[in-house]
Amino acid sequence: MQIPCRAREKELFECVAKAARQVGVPCYLIGGFVRDKLLNRGTKDMDIVCVGDGIALAHRVAALLGPAIKVNYFRNFGTAQVRYQDLDIEFVGARKESYSRDSRNPVVAPGSLEDDQLRRDFTINALAISLNEADYGQLIDPFNGVQDLEDKLIRTPLSPAQTFSDDPLRMMRAIRFASQLGFAILPETFQAIRENADRIRIISQERITDELNKIMLSAKPSVGLDLLYQAGILKIIFPQMTDLVGVEMVDGKGHKDNFYHTLQVIDNISRHTKDLWLRWAALLHDIGKPATKRFEEGHGWTFHGHDAVGGKMVPRIFTKLKLPQNEKMRLVRKLVELHLRPISLTKENITDSAIRRLLFDAGDDLEALMMLCEADITSKNRAKVKRYLENFEMVRERLKEVEESDRIRNWQPPVTGEMIMETFGLKPGRVVGELKNAIREAILDGEIPNSYEAAYQFMLQKARELDLTPVK
Ligand code: CTP
Repeated sequence: MQIPCRAREKELFECVAKAARQVGVPCYLIGGFVRDKLLNRGTKDMDIVCVGDGIALAHRVAALLGPAIKVNYFRNFGTAQVRYQDLDIEFVGARKESYSRDSRNPVVAPGSLEDDQLRRDFTINALAISLNEADYGQLIDPFNGVQDLEDKLIRTPLSPAQTFSDDPLRMMRAIRFASQLGFAILPETFQAIRENADRIRIISQERITDELNKIMLSAKPSVGLDLLYQAGILKIIFPQMTDLVGVEMVDGKGHKDNFYHTLQVIDNISRHTKDLWLRWAALLHDIGKPATKRFEEGHGWTFHGHDAVGGKMVPRIFTKLKLPQNEKMRLVRKLVELHLRPISLTKENITDSAIRRLLFDAGDDLEALMMLCEADITSKNRAKVKRYLENFEMVRERLKEVEESDRIRNWQPPVTGEMIMETFGLKPGRVVGELKNAIREAILDGEIPNSYEAAYQFMLQKARELDLTPVK
């Protein structure tokens, strides 16, 4: 078989093949690299398995590639890494693995290629390509992985119960591959995931979140998220999400299912952006709804304040999921808090001051916020969606106009806290904050123009109300 590859990869395969001959060990390309090549997807790391000492092979390859090439190796795991230009190559000796129930760490012993393929998670990940002289380029596919690639099917080489019990992270990997590749999980395999869902608890949060993020970055994240829910895993790893599931009825009135609505919003936003954090904002935009849900007589279901409540939940969720506690988290929180604002502008007579406020509050994240709000329109009623989108265009226009005339984004009021302190001989504290806010609000409300002189006069007037006199 002709291995589909770039020139540099070909050079590398030939070098590995030569090194393997010299060391006297059969070796094979294996795993995700082979899968992705056959699927014509981009590849990252290249995995090489050899029937023998992987570290010795890595050293031989490095020696052939040149004196600057280094080998990173881990004696305990029998693995080694070589970096050559932009390619990362991982070497490992073929192995048999057996697992105990309480740990992801297997007991490992040297094995044949077939043993090694058998220990792998899915048939599509167990494909190998020979780099040996006798059958160079031959595909070794003992579990019909190629057929599964064609059928778009995720299936385990061993019994699924054993594969998932050996390493429960594989349950999330199955779902992640389904979401990333648009594959189905064989019903028997999925059934085993449901039965073993609870075992996800022995997996570290970092690995769980890593898979979750890969699902979030897939073309249609709803596929993976819904599978996580159906499997019973989501409830364990992210209960705030499953709290969104379901429709409650009172007096014949129901609300929408906020879980499926949320999934649709993520898919919508994912058509426009690959940014992980905007997708997280979509996932969390209604997370405050269960806590704020009320049934009001004569009115129906309400979720008052779910934006603020949801915003407050973001840092806790990020901490639990070991997501970063930095400006990314602050962005997600801000978008959750502001997600109703542009929509609310479509419902009232839009005043300049409401537009100015949104520009000020959203600042640089205005486009992101507008994208989220547009994604949030999920009504099944086409006429309604059309009307919303048209109103939305109007809001965009107005935002543009007001921004052009007032330059409110990234704006700071012309009189600063320092100026206030200097004028009245004040130390930092409540009064300075009050004056500063009053000036900002007056400008945003259009009460005074956005100029230094107007703001200064306004400050003097406010100060008089507070019995303050200038010291200079
Ligand atoms: N593997 C496995 N069980 C796991 C993790 C990995 O059997 N829990 C095997 C699979 O054969 C997999 C290979 O190790 O193809 C390499 O794993 P990894 O690099 O984590 O994943 P890839 O399949 O390459 O996919 P991706 O790079 O998208 O994570």
